[in-house]
Amino acid sequence: MTFASRPVVIAGNWKMHKTAKEAVDFVNALAPKVAQSQASVFLAVPFTTIHPVVEALNGNSHITVGAQNMNDADEGAFTGEIAGKMLLEAGAKFVVLGHSERRHIFGETSAFINKKVKRALADGLKPIVCFGETLEEREAGNTHEVLKEQISVTLEGLTPDQVAQIIIAYEPVWAIGTGKTATPLEAQDAHDFCRRFIGAKWGDEIASQIVIQYGGSVKPDNAKSLMVQTDIDGLLVGGASLDVDTFSKIVNYQNM
Ligand code: PGA
Repeated sequence: MTFASRPVVIAGNWKMHKTAKEAVDFVNALAPKVAQSQASVFLAVPFTTIHPVVEALNGNSHITVGAQNMNDADEGAFTGEIAGKMLLEAGAKFVVLGHSERRHIFGETSAFINKKVKRALADGLKPIVCFGETLEEREAGNTHEVLKEQISVTLEGLTPDQVAQIIIAYEPVWAIGTGKTATPLEAQDAHDFCRRFIGAKWGDEIASQIVIQYGGSVKPDNAKSLMVQTDIDGLLVGGASLDVDTFSKIVNYQNM
């Protein structure tokens, strides 16, 4: 599918790493290193670090701060959960939803994630919604079927305008934290499939605009070969986003 110029968004997902002090030191060191990059930098940080990091960035327009999860309710008796409006007030602009660790370790279903996506959009947070097949599903030749099912249910009931506001992350489960990256062609095939499927459901214009990130063992030495693929518009980086030098090399992949 041909595409209009889509923004490049490179996101770090810190998972359960970094205290507030460590996070502030990190962004203070990162900011000058990525200031010239053509990519927008997103950081999905632990809840307790959102506000301190936003304050430390002091309006820096190149780095956007977000969360890694939220609840689908506005508020209520849900011990240990967090609401979108709380994230927003802390300074978050986006939220990662449906990450494979949420799906596989914490048992979140696509139907539940669908409710969270709707709540995030209603709250004014940009969702980065994750999809991806397990190794078993890939080896059985079911990758496209799995992606189709996950996208259908997770984005069920969204209008084209809403779909246009989200970022999608294709993250094959077998590539997350394992050191095994999908080859650029495997990733491109999955991205192309997702884009076509979104086009069939919500229209070609939305499909040509939507940003699709790849995630799963992205490192400085494979970032560029992934990013040159037609349908890969950004990266969602876990382990390699925890170190300033390593992450800034990925953000500046064009110089590699
Ligand atoms: P990884 O994680 O880069 O450590 O493989 C990616 C992710 O979970 O988003």
